[in-house]
Amino acid sequence: MKGAFITIEGIDGSGKDTLAARIKEYLESKGIEVVLTREPGDAFDGKVRDILMHNRPLPLSEMFLFMADRHEHVERVIRPALEAGKWVISVRFADSSMAYQGARGVDRDLIERLNMEAIGDVFPQLTILLDLPASEAMNRIKGRGNAVEHFEREEFLSKVRGLYLEDAAAHGNRIIVVDATISPDEIFRSVKPYLDKLIDEVAPTEMDISRAEIADAIIRAIDRGMHAFLVYGPWGCGHKHMIRKVIYTLVPSAKDVEDEPYGIYSPDVMVVYGEKPSSIKIDMVRAIGDFLDYRPIEAKYKVVVIDDASFMTLQASNALLKILEEPPEWGIFMLYTSYPERVLSTIRSRCAGVRLDRFSTKQLAVYIEERFSVSREEAETLARLSEGCPDRVEHILQVLDAESILDYIKEDFYKYVPVGQSLVEDNVMWDKLFLEVESLFLQGLMEGKQHITPDDVLMLVEWEGMLKANVQKKLIADLIYWRLKEGIERAHIS
Ligand code: TYD
Repeated sequence: MKGAFITIEGIDGSGKDTLAARIKEYLESKGIEVVLTREPGDAFDGKVRDILMHNRPLPLSEMFLFMADRHEHVERVIRPALEAGKWVISVRFADSSMAYQGARGVDRDLIERLNMEAIGDVFPQLTILLDLPASEAMNRIKGRGNAVEHFEREEFLSKVRGLYLEDAAAHGNRIIVVDATISPDEIFRSVKPYLDKLIDEVAPTEMDISRAEIADAIIRAIDRGMHAFLVYGPWGCGHKHMIRKVIYTLVPSAKDVEDEPYGIYSPDVMVVYGEKPSSIKIDMVRAIGDFLDYRPIEAKYKVVVIDDASFMTLQASNALLKILEEPPEWGIFMLYTSYPERVLSTIRSRCAGVRLDRFSTKQLAVYIEERFSVSREEAETLARLSEGCPDRVEHILQVLDAESILDYIKEDFYKYVPVGQSLVEDNVMWDKLFLEVESLFLQGLMEGKQHITPDDVLMLVEWEGMLKANVQKKLIADLIYWRLKEGIERAHIS
């Protein structure tokens, strides 16, 4: 199941609904879709709940009714939501039966067994137990019944609390106990780290491609006083996900924004982004100097990102070198490039190198399947074509309609040609184009360099002036690049 399941437990009056609403709000602020629900639920149009609340069933019947209500709740509400990737928060769940029906004298082994039948594999990953003395709970829910009833009720709630705590001790890794006498704000604050941990765990696809362990290593290096990093990896390797993780750790107040190359805004973050070679000019690098002149506003550090660092002109590179030679104590530099050998060696030597490898086709296929909602078969094809580089996938999908992708991507590149030909002018000489690109590759390989990039091929295609529109040019250039590179590398190895 793709979503996550959180339950909130506690005796009456412990503040479960308030906390549930806060958690929902927080998760939604992280872009997570949340279903907030409760037990007893609405099974059979609420008829089960009506009986429970108004007909005073005997303890055992009561337990069966709660179980029936729970089973319906799980299968009709919770499971479908989780399978759709949503998060579910339920106010009360299986632990309520363990505590309440247990306190009513029903055998707790029986309750546990029936719970397992009722919920199947829909287990909460996190349960928050709001713990409150029964006397305090009674104060909060005042005015119910007469004095004797009041006394009985307090005694009962006290038993329920005891059983809850017993279960929490036995399931310490799932159930966290929170003191419910503190304020709602404080309660939420103590719960938040557990939510953040769950967010990390449940979004393994995100985590996988954000390379958390590498981001952590960078943070540790910064703690030891290192300030400049040259992150490099093949085009589309997903470097932004990792660098974003570093930025959010260094500048926690940074905000998600659209329409920015890194999707991040903070007065303490500066992203210098170049689209093509030589597009990062000296004035852009001078602006970095100005940016670093002042202390950070919100964080301990100011982070400068340069992407792609090989797109700096020589003048720009030299200006950056000056800044790197005497950086302010708060300056952190995250340079990224797909072509490290094109970055000035004096800059390279001032940076700690961080290499990002390709993901395996298998890992990437799992990510693609989830992220782009395509079939496993399509995901595997896309993973192979993108050579373990997640950001190429988006590019391919942008160009091709995801639904028809298999029509385009076949085992042999030459099968693209009939498709490609409808995109290009009649006089395209494919063979000539291939030969040109191939010789470019071979030349690079013979010189022992990896200089050939998709952009080189694009330039060649542009130079040949054969393709109709920009998008098509890029597509064709990329397809040629990937296919030939793969073929030539394989031939070279064998
Ligand atoms: P409700 O009015 O929803 O109270 P609360 O706000 O405390 O959740 O009523 C739920 C009652 O049902 C509550 O007293 C606990 C009880 N209950 C059980 O005894 N067993 C269960 O399995 C569940 C889910 C609830």
